[in-house]
Amino acid sequence: MAQPAEFDKEKAQRFLKQLMKDVAASFHSAMTYIGDRLGIFKVMAGAGPLTVAELAERTGLQERYLREWLGSMVAAQYVDYDPKSQRYRLPPEHIAPLADEDSPVFLASMFAGLMPHLTVAPKVAEAFRTGGGVAQSEYPQELFAAMERMTAPMYKHFLIQHWLPALPQVVAKLQGGGSALDVGCGSGMAAIKIAEAFPQARVFGFDRHSGSIERARANARAAGLGETRIRFDVADCTQLPHSTFDFITTFEVVHDAVDPLALLTSIRNALRPGGTYMMAEVNASSRVEDNISPMGRMLYSASTLYCMTTSLAEGGAGLGAAMGEAKARELAETAGFSHFRRLPIDHPFAALYELRG
Ligand SMILES: C[S@@+](CC[C@H](N)C(=O)[O-])C[C@H]1O[C@@H](n2cnc3c(N)ncnc32)[C@H](O)[C@@H]1O
Repeated sequence: MAQPAEFDKEKAQRFLKQLMKDVAASFHSAMTYIGDRLGIFKVMAGAGPLTVAELAERTGLQERYLREWLGSMVAAQYVDYDPKSQRYRLPPEHIAPLADEDSPVFLASMFAGLMPHLTVAPKVAEAFRTGGGVAQSEYPQELFAAMERMTAPMYKHFLIQHWLPALPQVVAKLQGGGSALDVGCGSGMAAIKIAEAFPQARVFGFDRHSGSIERARANARAAGLGETRIRFDVADCTQLPHSTFDFITTFEVVHDAVDPLALLTSIRNALRPGGTYMMAEVNASSRVEDNISPMGRMLYSASTLYCMTTSLAEGGAGLGAAMGEAKARELAETAGFSHFRRLPIDHPFAALYELRG
């Protein structure tokens, strides 16, 4: 093919290099998924330098597979290798993101989330041709377990400590025994953190996905919270009871919703007088040119593989994960909220908005 006169050879070379890196990273992501799924990173964490045989003994896994897997980890510089002793070590700096489930920077769960997204890619590709989407019920259950692990660090480390203090009227209300509802609660981790922090409050979590509500109930039991403190129910939150809750939250729900305007209108009606709604959405711009970053790359991809597509499957708005502040503000105004404010909180993944009736 003839090259146009303005063809930039250096740009072509740079792109080829980038593409090669991306191909390598894509294949390697399956190795990180396996390391997380089989607990290999956790066994290596703090164990010091290990031979393949020692790692096989500690994990109970096949030595031959581990040798190949370790090769990929050394090539990716996730794991250090000493050729003299033929020992492999997970460096201390890599333990938190790969092996420490309690760390605010734990990221290995993202790979658990990636795999179920990839399994539906052929169906999503078909929807490009036919329109429509892929229904939430067609995704493997593994996705919802992964979602819980992906978002839990935010709720564990930021929600009570950094986000709610930006809403002093909410803290006062919940300390005094008010009621809180998490709309689209998924497996309930955010609602559980609120119930734990405010023993006087009555906390509710609703989601229309029954599998997630089952997980939420199990998580509440595991946290030792009885039904007087927290209650999870399967419900479509576009039909909430009026004037019932002092505080309502959504965490990454509005951009997925089939009918976001109906959802926000229902939330506004469900607030008691003086109540507050906190919308947590993805920290992205509504403008594609502002999202040229690794975060933007991940967002649009995850949105195509799940967020937008599950909404379109039901003839929904399909807002997509990068709906941004402009869309959030527009929805709030159309739903009749009189107050909309972006909270002054800096978080790489989350943008938080305060809405009042
Ligand atoms: C991306 S997930 C987020 C789950 C959870 N908030 C979290 O942070 O892990 C979005 C959730 O919103 C729920 N959802 C969407 N529209 C809903 C509606 N109208 N009523 C109830 N739940 C809804 C979905 O079923 C899904 O569990």
